[in-house]
Amino acid sequence: MSEVLTFIESNLGRFRAELYAFLRIPSISAKAEFIEDTRRSAQWLADRMRDAGLEAEIIETPGHPVVLGEWRGAGEAAPTVLVYGHYDVQPPEPLEEWISPPFEPTERDGRIYARGSADDKGQLYMHVKALEGHLTANGSLPVNVVVLAEGEEETGSPNLVPFVDANIDRLACDVVLISDTSMFSEGLPSLGFSLRGLAYFEIHVSGAKSDLHSGEYGGAVANPGNALAHILATLHEPTGRVAIEGFYDDVIEWDTGTRAQIESLPHSDEQYRKDLGVDELVGEDGFSTLERLWIRPSCDVNGLLCGYTGEGAKTVLPNHAMAKVSFRLVPDQTDSKVRALLERHVNKVAPPGVTVQIKELHGGRPWKASVEGRYFEAATEALKEAFGTAPVLVGGGGSIPIVVEFEERLHAPVLLVGFSLPGCNLHAPNEWLPVENFERGIGALALLYQKLAS
Ligand code: BES
Ligand code: MN
Ligand code: MN
Repeated sequence: MSEVLTFIESNLGRFRAELYAFLRIPSISAKAEFIEDTRRSAQWLADRMRDAGLEAEIIETPGHPVVLGEWRGAGEAAPTVLVYGHYDVQPPEPLEEWISPPFEPTERDGRIYARGSADDKGQLYMHVKALEGHLTANGSLPVNVVVLAEGEEETGSPNLVPFVDANIDRLACDVVLISDTSMFSEGLPSLGFSLRGLAYFEIHVSGAKSDLHSGEYGGAVANPGNALAHILATLHEPTGRVAIEGFYDDVIEWDTGTRAQIESLPHSDEQYRKDLGVDELVGEDGFSTLERLWIRPSCDVNGLLCGYTGEGAKTVLPNHAMAKVSFRLVPDQTDSKVRALLERHVNKVAPPGVTVQIKELHGGRPWKASVEGRYFEAATEALKEAFGTAPVLVGGGGSIPIVVEFEERLHAPVLLVGFSLPGCNLHAPNEWLPVENFERGIGALALLYQKLAS
């Protein structure tokens, strides 16, 4: 094992230079104009997998391709590990907020700034380099490995479940390994015990057949902007709870052990508040901040569109308004049930004179891990050895909808071993990954592959 770690140690500079090349490719899956760049990113990754000693193939889907890397030389007795990550990234806008351009990776203060550095190219590439460490220093891997990198995670993985079903034998494994989440804090390695699910909608409110003069018509004709504001205002109770009837019916009560574990984490509301630049923290009564983020559902307006928002005052009564509204879900909520409940709620509260239409954009199921078993122990030991301190259990406020689907279809536990940090600006301007986590993480993963074998 020590040759593997020495090899990694002495190649960290090259690894980082390679990551920068990966980060320079704008693989923005959501935008049609980046379709060729997204493919180039897949191609680049497949080439680096081959350089690392894996067999790699690009597999077409109706959308962006999947990259599949494989090494199956460890024999029947050794476990098979499925590594999952994504090579696509979120759009970088607003561009003017970036201190250095999103697709020109730049190091400042020990941080790698670039879109995708943390989510998820940097973390995915750490696996390729950990595998290269074993394959170069030892000529073999301690386990059989399949690396599945998709290019559509940030658009809701529309083609991944069909891909998994169509390749179920090839993806058969004993454990799934994913690095696409965060550590609790700097220097404190973490293993994920949950992920929230997602139900994402557009609410469209329409009124008169065209915009109207707000003086000529205001007060006598329904205003979709006013109506939408009313609808949105009914989504929460003053206590912070979601006010949709039946919304909490399927929310499980989390076990007291996990809640005690959350309680024991070194979290300060005061510091958290200051870091975010807010006056006060808000949320559902009866739950701590971390519980609100990890084990309770939420509802948020993500965007609003209505009327005149340009310079100066235009007196207009808009004929259309739209809100993007997302719900983060926890076990055992489902997006289909939330959709039905939201539709019923909106029909009940929508004011007269407008028509309301709800479109669902994304759905994804929440996940709760069973934090036990030999693979979980292996991850605990590997992180402890690499970081010099035992990992803590963390929940994931975000969503990786494929996780539950993997577990159900492959009958294998999922390990979330993430290396980004809260505050890394995922999906925001100035996304970054600590150089330290990139480097130490590669060593940790190399150790983990070893420990998964024994
Ligand atoms: N890597 C994130 C998910 C994540 C981030 C989980 C931090 C836990 C902590 C992933 O790339 C992501 O952004 N997922 C989307 C969902 C998807 C359906 C667009 C999300 O959570 O918004
Ligand atoms: Mn991600
Ligand atoms: Mn993401």
